[in-house]
Amino acid sequence: MNSRKAALLLSLALLLPSCGGGGESSLSSSGSEALPPAEDALAFENAGFEYGNLSGWTAEGNAFTELAIQTDSPGDKTLRHIEGDFYLDGFKANGDGATGTLLSPLFEVTSPRLTLLLGGGKDPSLCYVEVLDEEGNSILKKGNGSFYDPMPTDRLHRQAIDLSAHVGEMVRLKVVDADPGTDGWNHLLVDDIRLGEELPLMGGTPIEDANLFQGAMKGTVPELYRHKYHLMPSYGWMNDPNGFLYDGEKFHLFYQANPYAATWGNMSWGHQTSTDLIHWEDEGIAITPDSPYDKNGCFSGGAAVVGDTIRLLYTSVGEGNRQEQSVATSYDGGRTFAKTSRNPVITSGMSYGSRVTDFRDPYVFEKDGKYYALVGGKLEGTGSQILLYESEDFLEWEGVGVSLSSPFTGGGMFECPNVAFFGDKAAIIASPQGVRDSDPMNYQNVHSVAYEVGSLDLSTGKFTRDSQEEHWEELDKGFDFYATQVVEHEGRNILLAWMNHWSRGMPTSAYGWCGEATLPRELELRDGILYQHPISEIYDYFGEETLVEGLVLDDASQDLGTPGNCLSFKARIDVSELPSSGRAGFRLFEGEGERTLLYYDKALGALVMDRRESGLRISEADGDAPEGIRCCPVEPDEDGVIELECFLDVSSLEVFVNGGRHTMTGLVYPKETSLGISFYSEGGKSTLLEYQKSDILP
Ligand code: FRU
Repeated sequence: MNSRKAALLLSLALLLPSCGGGGESSLSSSGSEALPPAEDALAFENAGFEYGNLSGWTAEGNAFTELAIQTDSPGDKTLRHIEGDFYLDGFKANGDGATGTLLSPLFEVTSPRLTLLLGGGKDPSLCYVEVLDEEGNSILKKGNGSFYDPMPTDRLHRQAIDLSAHVGEMVRLKVVDADPGTDGWNHLLVDDIRLGEELPLMGGTPIEDANLFQGAMKGTVPELYRHKYHLMPSYGWMNDPNGFLYDGEKFHLFYQANPYAATWGNMSWGHQTSTDLIHWEDEGIAITPDSPYDKNGCFSGGAAVVGDTIRLLYTSVGEGNRQEQSVATSYDGGRTFAKTSRNPVITSGMSYGSRVTDFRDPYVFEKDGKYYALVGGKLEGTGSQILLYESEDFLEWEGVGVSLSSPFTGGGMFECPNVAFFGDKAAIIASPQGVRDSDPMNYQNVHSVAYEVGSLDLSTGKFTRDSQEEHWEELDKGFDFYATQVVEHEGRNILLAWMNHWSRGMPTSAYGWCGEATLPRELELRDGILYQHPISEIYDYFGEETLVEGLVLDDASQDLGTPGNCLSFKARIDVSELPSSGRAGFRLFEGEGERTLLYYDKALGALVMDRRESGLRISEADGDAPEGIRCCPVEPDEDGVIELECFLDVSSLEVFVNGGRHTMTGLVYPKETSLGISFYSEGGKSTLLEYQKSDILP
């Protein structure tokens, strides 16, 4: 058994002691009373195909030749739930049309329960595993009961065979593919045949399986690069935050999740809760594809408290990637969700001409007892729109109108539109795809987050911008900030974003997780501009303060003596005496050969975040700026001073510039020992007027 498998089995046993699996009836204990619960062990030699060949098995026909013994990439492995390195794939030898049988050696039934992984096998009457007695008589047959998952799949599910009436007898297994069809999945996958009672079954409902798998795998994720005070998945993948809400006692944040791997896929909603927006509790997977209308994904959306329930409005992606909006409801405070039989509730016929495959990401808010949803839609050709819908009960939705329609996104669309209200003003915050600017301080990422301020008429849906002309202001000038969610809570508009980005190198995927949310930020609208402030709750976790004052450096650098990677500091830097070619700033996450630079570049008039030497390389998408560098426009005040507030969390850096006028967000992957922080002034003189640092003790 490899170590990963050992860890999985151990954590399954620890975390899920009573999980007997949904779809299968649990085993009766009759006939097993004399036996202590058996530890799972392979039923016979090479019962998991780990010899990498068919040794011990007897094959007939052309479905199960040696070519059917397959090994897969780590990605496929988690997607298919393969155990160990090898499995039997009845497609790979001679395709769907092949037929044949594979006979195991005789083995003794030492436990009342035999489990095995089965995948594929559309027709269980033609593709199955048969148990034969010593004389070759058939005892029972087992087909893949979880083939529709909810769509046809080769994913392996653990299934059980009740052998309680045969304990102590000698039996054989016969893998049968008698399906000559070629219309898809006329083949069987088999792996890891075990006797014993400990392993829980996959092959319950898709949501049970998702939680079972994620729950079992989370113990396998190493601490390296994990954040200390940011939300991230316990295992698997995360992209957009979804359905940010407060239920009167705690915050809920849902997010786009892949429970099975640290790559995008199987789009489900993860769910975590928090009372302080800093500590998050994993509540498991809330919804996962399990219905024809969402078989290709439960994409982004919003949520609201509706009476005693929590309701989610999400983009259900069905046949041909058709995107519509659907509802799931929790009657138990968010522990479990049920999809309504009325789904989809906002159909493509209500999409104001948006393309069927680009009509998504409902953002939900409540005003005067009514629920509203802003939805993004792409028009045929160029341009996209943001649409407004309303509902009294969250189930029956009507179109209100087009909030805005714009060529800004070119061939892309506004993903994840949000709205934040400030009195009678409204800021529409959206994630336009594919916008690039030749100005190095604007739109340097493959996709961006941007906003416009104006007013939103809820009776017509129309957004009227304050500016004369369409002008989308970019919200964050760093690398890793996309797909925001805003929640209004006791007068505060709190925003967070996916702190990562599309088409990037994602080093933590190799460690079983990927994706995180930014620190929640409070929005302030001042003179038509959105300012962002760190959520005040974070200050409750500040440790002792260290202060450095009046450090004057002339073409020099100095270690500040405040090492660490889970901390915050505020700094005021006087750059008035710095010559026009000078730079002044910080080296963070500094260690042998590694540093992340954050400096003011006087010639550019910009704050620069440079992660080219920050540790593991993070490759960027073709549409991105020069790899590893981002610039943010900064104006020193009348005394020549710039002000920064920075948050470091092991593998992330968030910077609030000049009181939140701008922010810059980026991920970095330094060594654990790269903890240094120094101040430097290059090409002349600058003064660190004040540097106030606190560890964050979450
Ligand atoms: C944005 C997005 C959304 C979509 C989701 C799918 O990052 O592309 O438009 O709903 O991700 O995971």
